Amino acid sequence: MSEPKPWGVCWVVVTGASKGLGAEICVGFAKLMAPGSCIVGVARSSQGLKDTEQKVKQANPHVQFKSVVLDLGSADKEGMESALAPTLSTLENTALSKVLMVHNAGSLGDLQYVKNLIDHEHTRKYYEFNISSVITLNAIFMDYVKSLPSSVQCQIINISSLCAITPFKSWGLYCAGKAARDMFFKVLATEEPTISVLSYSPGPLDGDMQAQVRATSADDEIRTSFTAMKEQGNLLPIHVSVAKMLQVIHANKFKSGDHVDYYDEI
Ligand SMILES: NC(=O)c1ccc[n+]([C@@H]2O[C@H](COP(=O)([O-])OP(=O)(O)OC[C@H]3O[C@@H](n4cnc5c(N)ncnc54)[C@H](OP(=O)(O)O)[C@@H]3O)[C@@H](O)[C@H]2O)c1
Repeated sequence: MSEPKPWGVCWVVVTGASKGLGAEICVGFAKLMAPGSCIVGVARSSQGLKDTEQKVKQANPHVQFKSVVLDLGSADKEGMESALAPTLSTLENTALSKVLMVHNAGSLGDLQYVKNLIDHEHTRKYYEFNISSVITLNAIFMDYVKSLPSSVQCQIINISSLCAITPFKSWGLYCAGKAARDMFFKVLATEEPTISVLSYSPGPLDGDMQAQVRATSADDEIRTSFTAMKEQGNLLPIHVSVAKMLQVIHANKFKSGDHVDYYDEI
């Protein structure tokens, strides 16, 4: 597999950029971006975003990192628009090759059996963050980019999961949310043939989310199997999954709207 080629000058938004996969995506992308490029990182933790900014600077000192501290679980449309507005100057004043929106932020929610998901407020808030905010933020992004010249490549990446296509016991909220996001972005791909849309499933990553899986999954079998994966060293280093995602983008063999998994042949 050949290495990804440089991307030119880019403007990128990455949600959940304060740690884990989102932070590594920022670093991986920065290495491919030309001077004048900008990454807008969105998350709640300003310290986490500062840490990512440092990592991006080390990866490529010519790429600007802008932090947007925002709770996507509670922000409304106006809140999202005003948080992103100050970063727009970069978009308007630059000769761009590519704009990207990476919907990476996500959460597991209560890892309870479906029959026990009785907490309506938790369910409502869960989908407000994991689905509603994605839909609104995506529309805001598309409104920003609609006036760009057609020479600018526009790509939207939805961070998906095996759970979008396979049921896991006691992960009902998470599986349903990931499935909904995949279908939403398939619809977008159908509506907007000039935009490249990818749902990337990053594989089991050795990070905080997996620690929560091992600690709180209600299903014994699931807890035991993910604990064994951790103990046997079978969770993926996060940067390895980002490298695969970059190869998927570079190879460009997926159909817009496809779900592509880390373990898929490309
Ligand atoms: N880890 C895995 O094994 C795995 C496997 C398949 C798919 N995925 C998917 O990959 C993505 C990233 O997972 P990860 O492992 O990197 O998770 P993580 O380490 O828990 O990071 C989640 C990110 O989302 C942000 N976030 C959480 N709640 C937020 C909110 N209300 N508003 C704004 N940002 C929020 C967090 O930042 P703050 O806390 O600073 O807000 C953090 O940057 C998720 O969509 C996940 O479903 C993960």
